[in-house]
Amino acid sequence: MRIAVVGTGYVGLVSGACFSEFGVEVVCVDQDEAKIARLQAGRVPIFEPGLEPLVARNMAAGRLSFTTDLAAAVSGAEAVFIAVGTPSRRGDGHADLSYVHAAAEAIGRALAGYTVVVTKSTVPVGTGREVARILRRVRPQGQFDVVSNPEFLREGSAIEDFMRPDRVVIGADSEPARSVMRALYRPLYLLETPIVFTDIETAELIKYAANAFLATKITFINEIADLCERVGADVQDVARGIGLDGRIGSKFLHAGPGFGGSCFPKDCHALVRTAHEAEAPLAIVETVLRVNDRRKERMADKIIAACDGAVAGKTLAVLGLTFKPNTDDMRDSPSLTILPRLIAAGARIRAFDPEGMPEARKLLPDLAYCGDPYEATDGADALILLTEWNAFRALDLARIKSLLAVPLVIDLHNIYQPHEMIAAGLGYVSIGRAANLPRPRLRALA
Ligand SMILES: NC(=O)c1ccc[n+]([C@@H]2O[C@H](COP(=O)([O-])OP(=O)(O)OC[C@H]3O[C@@H](n4cnc5c(N)ncnc54)[C@H](O)[C@@H]3O)[C@@H](O)[C@H]2O)c1
Repeated sequence: MRIAVVGTGYVGLVSGACFSEFGVEVVCVDQDEAKIARLQAGRVPIFEPGLEPLVARNMAAGRLSFTTDLAAAVSGAEAVFIAVGTPSRRGDGHADLSYVHAAAEAIGRALAGYTVVVTKSTVPVGTGREVARILRRVRPQGQFDVVSNPEFLREGSAIEDFMRPDRVVIGADSEPARSVMRALYRPLYLLETPIVFTDIETAELIKYAANAFLATKITFINEIADLCERVGADVQDVARGIGLDGRIGSKFLHAGPGFGGSCFPKDCHALVRTAHEAEAPLAIVETVLRVNDRRKERMADKIIAACDGAVAGKTLAVLGLTFKPNTDDMRDSPSLTILPRLIAAGARIRAFDPEGMPEARKLLPDLAYCGDPYEATDGADALILLTEWNAFRALDLARIKSLLAVPLVIDLHNIYQPHEMIAAGLGYVSIGRAANLPRPRLRALA
């Protein structure tokens, strides 16, 4: 079986590499010549654990190749996946479908024989039908079906998520198309992965509903964390106490600085837009977006408050810049809201991130970038843990204490326990925990 994947970003590259691992012959296409040249040379342009060896293995086996020549990749492919970006459109929050439409036009021109055209990009309800209209306009006699196959992988564990997903969703309305999709996902059938067949509109909406629900869950526990701080409760215990209820579940109940990333914010905005246009507004999702935006701003206020109410002239060490660990993706990262506010308040920032710094340098040019957590900490007036990379979970706290000018750690993901910090002689401010050290004690420690 031969397929083409158009768009070789996080989703296209991971999907293409994983399908080739299943034994399918995959040609990955991108219009970015530099990206394709790097891939052809065996270099993976993004950081995603396990991806480089997976790509190398399948290239060596002759099952995975890269090109900028879309027409050559599409002709002869049984299925063509559209995995291009769908960022937020400036101004109205709608998904920008220009890349999807352009890809559909190019695919239409290249169609040869019956082809299943699959939207893997996250696209608003109705896009599949629009893709079909574009294909029909470009190639009136073309033989094709359009399928929606939204992707649920998470950056940082993308390969595992693709290979062992909770479910695969396939929106299709023809049997030949379903049968091509069944053949492609056969290895997952054998693992008894649930495959949910729906119509195209339902599949499109499942993806947005899933992301909006997860964003809501995060925002819910973040607001509960604020309440915990006010009433002397501990959000970690509240999360555990509610998460053990099977109806609630323990995942996505980690309080933090607010969600970011390439999907949740833009997908929630796009869903809100779709809902307005359909005259069925989603008040919950609208509130989630508002609360989350405000939260990121309030995190800067929290840091300033922890630094005795002012950061002007102070140096802050920041560990973690990406929107979550195990990725180099900076899109909509909370750091992009929090750090400029601290800089505007007069702080100097020394930062370290294991993978995000090349991208961060472009977006946050005013930071001093450091080679490791200890270099960042040296002489700082506080240490801020902004992304929960594993590399930050076992810092040498005695060394941190000796390097900091003021022994204060502000942990926006609760990756440490208050008693560890107390034992190390460090002041500690975290999220939604009654055990945060009170200010007088902090001052005494300093
Ligand atoms: N990143 C994730 O974790 C994730 C997870 C699930 C779903 N998604 C969805 O998948 C889609 C892709 O996301 P991504 O993060 O991989 O995006 P990305 O920006 O990393 O990659 C998109 C790629 O498409 C290429 N491209 C754009 N137009 C093209 C065209 N006409 N022909 C060939 N190549 C073209 C770009 O050059 C780029 O390399 C989005 O709709 C996103 O919402 C992303």
